[in-house]
Amino acid sequence: MENSILEVNNLCFGFNKNNQILSNISFNIEEGEFVLIAGANGSGKSLLLKCLKGLLKPTNGSIVVNGQDVSKHSKIRRSLFGLVFQDADSQIVGQTVEKDLKFGMDNIKISSEEQLRRISDVTELLNLQNKLKMKARNLSGGEKRRLAIAGVLVMEPKIIFMDEPFANLDYPGVIQVIKTLLLLKESGHTIIIVSHEIEKVAAHADRLILMESGKIIENGKVDKLLDTLLNHGVFVPSIDGKLLTCKDLTWLKH
Ligand SMILES: Nc1ncnc2c1ncn2[C@@H]1O[C@H](COP(=O)(O)OP(=O)(O)OP(=O)(O)O)[C@@H](O)[C@H]1O
Ligand SMILES: [Mg+2]
Repeated sequence: MENSILEVNNLCFGFNKNNQILSNISFNIEEGEFVLIAGANGSGKSLLLKCLKGLLKPTNGSIVVNGQDVSKHSKIRRSLFGLVFQDADSQIVGQTVEKDLKFGMDNIKISSEEQLRRISDVTELLNLQNKLKMKARNLSGGEKRRLAIAGVLVMEPKIIFMDEPFANLDYPGVIQVIKTLLLLKESGHTIIIVSHEIEKVAAHADRLILMESGKIIENGKVDKLLDTLLNHGVFVPSIDGKLLTCKDLTWLKH
């Protein structure tokens, strides 16, 4: 694809030679796209994100970003891709919100001036500007998730990955995260989210990639794929036996 920001070709991964978990994963992502990767428990979604991010080493295949093959450069991939982990707590390292946001930037020696600029932009975007001095551990679940997202955004990644961003959130928390995703999308970010709670984002995602047993089995418009999902262990809500459509699933107006 001409405008691809990311091309993944035949990516394979296994913890040992006799046990291949991800098999020949290939897909493209365009700049500014919001893509949902769904699949049943154990289908390989989290491992795929970890391989892309450079936390695990693929056994085969290529990862191309803006035309440059970065497959052999896990360090470059770690800076190009931001990964928001499923468990926000495990990602928060600083005592206060501000210290947490500075942590990653200090590590790569970003100037204080630039740090302040990024913190100001990102906290405004995610509505955390009044929480900077607050102890991170006292934030609510939804706020922690927003802080984990903010910690990734201040590093200015080319693509943002989020693993199960709705896990353990109550209804207001889910709404906060959906609003955040829409804001990020509107501001031009490229986002890949992994979730089996597809009813929460189906209406907003540009595309759906469906995984099963470490393979991609579908890749296309969300609406067209909703009825296939049920057969592959992914819940889609229905009323009186009739599956809801993306239109029914719009939680928030754009
Ligand atoms: N460290 C590991 N050693 C061996 N097998 C592993 C390891 N981590 C994951 N697996 C296996 O790899 C497969 C894919 O795991 P992965 O975590 O990617 O699934 P997932 O699609 O993210 O599932 P979930 O929806 O439950 O988060 C699973 O069968 C899992 O048991
Ligand atoms: Mg997972």
